[in-house]
Amino acid sequence: METEQPKQKSSPHVLIFPCPAQGHVNPMLKLAELLAIQNLHTTFLNTKYIHNRLIQFNDDIQALLESYPKLQFKTISDFHDEEEHPGFGEKIGDVLVALSLYGKPLLRDIIVSEKISCLIVDGIFGDLAIDLAHEFGIQLITFRTISACCLWAYLCVPKLIQCNELPIRGDEDMDRMIRNTPGMENLLRCRDFPSFKRVDKENDHIILDHVVLLTQQSLKANALILNTFEDLEAPILSQIRLHFPKLTTYTLGPLHHHLYTTKKSSSSSSSSSFFKADRTCMTWLESQPLKSVVYVNFGSITSMKREEIIEIWHGLLNSKKQFLWVIRPNMVQEKGLLKELEEGTNKEQGLIVGWVPQEEVLSHKAIGAFLTHSGWNSTLESVVCGVPMICWPYFADQQINSRFVSDVWKIGLDMKDVCDRKVVENMVNDVMVNRKEAFLKSAMEIAKLACKSVSCDGSSYNNFKDLIEYIRSTSP
Ligand code: UDX
Repeated sequence: METEQPKQKSSPHVLIFPCPAQGHVNPMLKLAELLAIQNLHTTFLNTKYIHNRLIQFNDDIQALLESYPKLQFKTISDFHDEEEHPGFGEKIGDVLVALSLYGKPLLRDIIVSEKISCLIVDGIFGDLAIDLAHEFGIQLITFRTISACCLWAYLCVPKLIQCNELPIRGDEDMDRMIRNTPGMENLLRCRDFPSFKRVDKENDHIILDHVVLLTQQSLKANALILNTFEDLEAPILSQIRLHFPKLTTYTLGPLHHHLYTTKKSSSSSSSSSFFKADRTCMTWLESQPLKSVVYVNFGSITSMKREEIIEIWHGLLNSKKQFLWVIRPNMVQEKGLLKELEEGTNKEQGLIVGWVPQEEVLSHKAIGAFLTHSGWNSTLESVVCGVPMICWPYFADQQINSRFVSDVWKIGLDMKDVCDRKVVENMVNDVMVNRKEAFLKSAMEIAKLACKSVSCDGSSYNNFKDLIEYIRSTSP
């Protein structure tokens, strides 16, 4: 009689599917590279539109594939023609709706053809992949690109509505404290709560409710990955773990530094920019004194009104500090404004460019402060480099991130809801001169903790080992 052979486990194959936006593709591609370094078969799934931009603007994408034979890119349609594509900015919702309505069969085909054994899907897709994970008996891990504090705020929303603390009742309500948020009950005013009002004032609360619903759906996964680290958000992470005891939460961040520390080969990890980076700024920075430059960048989505740009500009000029300001090609609607700024700025004081290699810029010794929109990636990149921040949040998690920067971590100032040249000037001088030592001290302390978390035996380092073990052990 033949003895029955034990069933051979197939080698795991992970599919990573980010929301097609810059702040999502960046950290999820870092994770893909970390998995590939562990020799895990990894497929990175992008919409065609975003994949084309990656190939067009990043010379190192090809090199990345050559370095890791087990890493591959696949594309999925987003159901929009190239000519009338909504892009990846404020209209990203159109792409997300199309993907949630029609994307499932395409995702299904990829799972079958690639023999996927584990899905790591952006939490912004809600329950897009849950049925598929059940159908194929594979693991589903949700990846949230936002801070833990924002995720926790989203999860508190139903309770806040029940207690009549939400919705916010207009502009006059903005300084009211929001209490039913365990772990941050003495911290958040209405104006610090995640918000979409600078994108769509009328529908702010409807959008928030929808995002909350997607968040709840996404937590039906088997596990959760967050791009943060234990020492940064410990009290908030405890709340999430307390309320979702069955959901293993892996904090792996800061992922860009985790990858850099793992590779130890270059000053920054592979780039995945949606725009061509202008490297002339690096030469300009070389000629600037130590910690003398204010770096200004409001991320990949923020759009600004003429008046706001003018106020920031005058604030910077009046501060008398040198500045490097990134104004994306699609950030200002008015033709001629950019020319006006460029012509009116003394080249000795300020340089204005369209897109920069941000990780490299922030780690340059000439940078003294970061005037930022408080996107989570930008915040983490600044944290790692020990650069104090001046925060001017735009939407979503940025409102709460900036509150944590100023009032919890004390590594910067929060300028939210104000755009006035005098305030800009004063805050720049506070961070760069008057309170410079205090901000630098706390920023350096947190930077050390960030580096420790991704070094051997640090929390993110160990969590990543656990994640690999989890993926291998649950592979069918
Ligand atoms: C969005 C949301 O705004 C953010 O709050 C959320 O956490 C993720 O999705 P975005 O607005 O683009 O992201 O901001 P951010 O999270 O800071 O991501 C921008 C990324 O683009 C960063 O990794 C940054 O390094 C990179 N970048 C930006 C550049 O490389 N060069 C630039 O000139 C500007």
